[in-house]
Amino acid sequence: MSDRTIGMWLYSNGGGDKIGKKIIKKLKERGIETIDNINLRHAIAKNSHILYKDIKLDKLDLFFSYNAGEQTQYQMYLYQALNRVIPMINTYDSFALTEDKFQTSFVLRNAGVKTADYKLCHRDDGHQLKKIIKKWDKMVYKPTDGWGGVGLTKIENEANLDMLLPFLNQMDLRYFYVEKFINYDNTDFRVDIVDGEFIGCYGRKASGTDWRTNVTSGGSVFMRDANDDIIAVAKKAAKVCGVDIAGVDIIYDREKEEYIVLEVNGIPAFATPEQEKMGLDFNEKKIEKIVELIDKKTKK
Ligand SMILES: Nc1ncnc2c1ncn2[C@@H]1O[C@H](COP(=O)(O)OP(=O)(O)O)[C@@H](O)[C@H]1O
Ligand SMILES: [Mg+2]
Repeated sequence: MSDRTIGMWLYSNGGGDKIGKKIIKKLKERGIETIDNINLRHAIAKNSHILYKDIKLDKLDLFFSYNAGEQTQYQMYLYQALNRVIPMINTYDSFALTEDKFQTSFVLRNAGVKTADYKLCHRDDGHQLKKIIKKWDKMVYKPTDGWGGVGLTKIENEANLDMLLPFLNQMDLRYFYVEKFINYDNTDFRVDIVDGEFIGCYGRKASGTDWRTNVTSGGSVFMRDANDDIIAVAKKAAKVCGVDIAGVDIIYDREKEEYIVLEVNGIPAFATPEQEKMGLDFNEKKIEKIVELIDKKTKK
């Protein structure tokens, strides 16, 4: 007899389906039942309940949300409501934080975690960008809610900015977020953390023509070990953001000679079957730690 039941929504591509099955099996061994594939897109809220088919999600002991496929506004809205009444991994607040690059950088900087220098200003304060490009030489314009390197624009000089501003002004943005362009070797570290513990690390390298390491921007994954400094930075970033599960992206700033956090991902992918063949072997440990964490958070 199981005394606890959780809900789960985990991505199924890239080997996710197998990972999900392993998690469910391991939870069962601990007396925890899993209701799988709960997509909040198909849930409704009715008075005190959030219903998915006949299941009252608000009665679950926990909800594990791990689907990187775009979270629609509706899903996020129910995620927020559900987390007011039951525990979730990641918590709504921490997940929402990591979905926003400015909010994340702001929180990290205030906790003393190194990030790229940045500036945020109202869309009508474009002159702020002119001021900062003089100081920085090169900068990156970033949508605060982007992913995969999409929409990032490198601005190399003032003339570049003058060309770009009319386009940005047309885009009906609320604000501009820019970062100093970091002098780095076009490789990064992706460090996985679960419940404050180091799980694994790999590297990504931008393709010849690009400065972005994202696989979606042509980057490639390679085997890479983290050192103690990198692990310490990643742990601190995860803690400060409050995410139980984190993938922390770190690069080495050659000018300042220090590691900086580029972003914190709240749904870092497990190693794909191809990556496992390459030697990336952190999946088992990650699964085990997630199962332990769910067990811990649902203990009665
Ligand atoms: N300030 C920066 N200086 C230099 N390169 C950057 C900077 N910010 C991002 N990049 C490069 O662009 C990639 C994508 O940026 P990131 O902030 O992680 O956005 P996304 O969510 O789209 O992955 C990074 O992996 C890195 O290679
Ligand atoms: Mg990134």
